[in-house]
Amino acid sequence: MPNIDIPQLDPLAILKGQSALVTGGSSGIGKGVAIEFGKAGANVAVNYSHKADEAEEIVKEIESFGVKAIAVKADVSKEEDVVAMFKEVISTFGTVDILVNNAGMQKDSPFHEMSLEYWNKVIGVNLTGQFLCAREAVKEFLRRGVKKEVSVAAGKIIHMSSVHEVVPWAGHANYAASKGGIHMLMQTIAQELAPQKIRVNAIGPGAIKTPINRVAWETEEAYNDLMKLIPYNRIGLPEDIARTAVFLASDYSDYINGSTIFVDGGMTLYPGFRTGG
Ligand code: BGC
Repeated sequence: MPNIDIPQLDPLAILKGQSALVTGGSSGIGKGVAIEFGKAGANVAVNYSHKADEAEEIVKEIESFGVKAIAVKADVSKEEDVVAMFKEVISTFGTVDILVNNAGMQKDSPFHEMSLEYWNKVIGVNLTGQFLCAREAVKEFLRRGVKKEVSVAAGKIIHMSSVHEVVPWAGHANYAASKGGIHMLMQTIAQELAPQKIRVNAIGPGAIKTPINRVAWETEEAYNDLMKLIPYNRIGLPEDIARTAVFLASDYSDYINGSTIFVDGGMTLYPGFRTGG
């Protein structure tokens, strides 16, 4: 049997010396992840598509933790943008060790009225965007290989999925299809690249208080309705996701590969069955 290295880690700086790219890092969950990564000691590239000012603010906050940070503009659904973004991140930090494939959007519509434009837009950003970024990240992980002083893995990819990779969602066929696709994309890359020491996992957030789902929490009535879907009886915060992302990016989770961790207060537990069935 070979010798197995269980890494020794500093719990206060578990991402020290690593460089991360967080797509869609200028707001919502991505912003939370970018900041938490900086706190955990990583250099962070904050990708944005429109919100340059917000991204720059986040960069300043991350720099205050004593690490490097940059804002980098790219539409993740465009191949040339993604290739240029990776070039910039790698030339600034020397490499990229962690990709958080987070950029995502909703364009909701009743199914029979859903335009091809809405379909293509959501699949383009949520699924094709994750493919393009993962591909560029993997190229860099394979080029560099393992640097033991940084991490026992050659690279880590965290796909931001959703409870809707398993929970069907009426009125959101494009979104649910993109998240179902992410699930098989994630597991296939994980299976293919595990021998090269690349770890690929996903987080499945439930309802997290961000701009994407404002209508679900901004009035008391909407919030109370939402609670019927969440056994733990509170909405999630970006920090709930960010802490899970830090764990998945670190060597603490070195034996986790090809998994989705649902961070959802129990939303995937069929809450209607608590009182029915
Ligand atoms: C969606 C949110 C929604 C949550 C739970 C997320 O993936 O983006 O709008 O509140 O799933 O349904």
